[in-house]
Amino acid sequence: MALSLPLDAERYHPDPREPVDRWFQAASASNVRTTTAVVADLVGPSCGAVVDPFAGGGSSAAAARLMGLPFFGIEIDPVLACVSMAKSRATVRHARMLQGLPPIRDLDSLHPVLAMLSTCGGADEVTVASCLAVVLALRASRGAPLGYVEVADDLARRPPSAAAGRLVCADATASEGWRDLSVPQEHAVLYTSPQFGRRSPLLGAPAGLTVAARGILTTAGTDHDRAAAPQDAGFAGTTVAMLRQAASRMRRATVVIEHEPDDEGHDATQEVLEQAAAALPGRVHGARVIACGQFTWRGPLSLIVFDLR
Ligand SMILES: C[S@@+](CC[C@H](N)C(=O)[O-])C[C@H]1O[C@@H](n2cnc3c(N)ncnc32)[C@H](O)[C@@H]1O
Repeated sequence: MALSLPLDAERYHPDPREPVDRWFQAASASNVRTTTAVVADLVGPSCGAVVDPFAGGGSSAAAARLMGLPFFGIEIDPVLACVSMAKSRATVRHARMLQGLPPIRDLDSLHPVLAMLSTCGGADEVTVASCLAVVLALRASRGAPLGYVEVADDLARRPPSAAAGRLVCADATASEGWRDLSVPQEHAVLYTSPQFGRRSPLLGAPAGLTVAARGILTTAGTDHDRAAAPQDAGFAGTTVAMLRQAASRMRRATVVIEHEPDDEGHDATQEVLEQAAAALPGRVHGARVIACGQFTWRGPLSLIVFDLR
């Protein structure tokens, strides 16, 4: 079977025109359409949900949206958790909640908008609309403000899945975040991109934005570990610690893990497969490493793929 792999840079890098996904794209993000094509090739039409325990700026969330699938995500950074939440769950209705409020031109204008939003709807609606406001404040802090009308247009072009998903701000290698995530036990793809190394680009959001994002998530009960900080267990250690958590909650899934060499150029693909097989005895099937191209200074991208059963 010919796979729709990210073999060239155009297919690997995020498309800056992709509605919703274009709101924020991390340097380490992947192309939403390529992700959906890989899921179609590897999982097929039986795929019922996307799970990403290292959700980052939400390329998998946006891919799930494009596929009309519910998204279940974990992300340790509160600002990125808000970005992923907005990309997976925002609707035109949330954009309309913002449209009656002052524009977000800088971080200072976020706070009054959040205060006004808190009286504008039910708790769940307020959370998603507030995450959308965080996205706009993040954009403004980078000198690239985005208006309510542009956001509403994107949302009209890409409605989210009607089925519920969930996102929590937590450490994906520990059990707390997974406890309330209610990931589907079957028919999901776990498609993720763990931190490649310490020199993976960090978000570097203004401290005030991180505090505001944490406040939103705490109020919503989706902030599970205030003290959580990524442990540097290396690519294989972090990935396998996450897989233990996933495997204790998912009976069957197709697992797709993006891998690039770490800061020292070390390739951990075989370690991941060996350690995963040892940590999850009898549950790793059809394991393979699919080589793509080299798109960053780190070295070649590979996809580590297996069926969890
Ligand atoms: C390579 S990035 C993911 C990029 C993502 N695909 C995107 O579209 O932006 C890895 C992400 O994992 C997050 N992360 C690192 N360690 C984590 C952990 N233990 N639990 C949850 N998230 C973690 C980082 O904050 C970062 O956003």
